[in-house]
Amino acid sequence: MSTLTKVASAASRLVRPGTWKRIARVGNFLAYDGAPLALATVGAGARLSPTVSVRHGERVSIGAGAQIGQGCSLWAGGDTGAIVIGDHALLAPDVFVTAANYDFDAGDGPVMDLPMREATVTIGANTWLGTRVVVLPGVTIGDGTVVAAGAVVTRDLPPGVLAAGVPARVLRKRGER
Ligand SMILES: CC(C)(COP(=O)(O)OP(=O)(O)OC[C@H]1O[C@@H](n2cnc3c(N)ncnc32)[C@H](O)[C@@H]1OP(=O)(O)O)[C@@H](O)C(=O)NCCC(=O)NCCS
Repeated sequence: MSTLTKVASAASRLVRPGTWKRIARVGNFLAYDGAPLALATVGAGARLSPTVSVRHGERVSIGAGAQIGQGCSLWAGGDTGAIVIGDHALLAPDVFVTAANYDFDAGDGPVMDLPMREATVTIGANTWLGTRVVVLPGVTIGDGTVVAAGAVVTRDLPPGVLAAGVPARVLRKRGER
């Protein structure tokens, strides 16, 4: 393809409404989901996908050498609930971590109008959370623990184990196969 054809093709894309819709979506993502990341503490050598979604980044801490995959959500609480991720932790794509729940017992109107219950989440060093793992408020995952894809972690997990399921249960120690 000649340079002239490439320029003409790029220019024609600019006049398509779909192009501007996509640009608006990316802008919205960066402003709403991506911007709070700037407030987070990120250790040396940590790698985060550009599509990581962060809330209340001032209460998010990511250890050195950690890797956070595409589409992960790190939603700290707006008041006290922090998310602390240890060194060299690996979060596969689409892991969802939250440090806040709506206090749904506080009323029966729209949940958005209810107060939040917040509790800090701690994900240990050298952990591996498989894709689509969900980690709920107040949970601590011990160092070196592996959480299988799709698990929902509702309670603390000890160090050095493999856990799986909904709710996540310890299956065995690491290295025991
Ligand atoms: C956690 C994982 C590594 C386990 O690997 P494994 O070598 O199969 O582990 P085991 O063979 O010891 O499995 C132990 C048991 O857990 C079960 N199990 C494995 N993965 C499971 C899952 N995601 N949910 C529920 N149970 C699971 C196995 O079926 C087995 O049960 P059984 O003993 O009744 O047969 C793997 O299943 C997984 O979830 N990988 C994540 C992949 C991923 O997200 N990759 C992204 C790249 S970062």
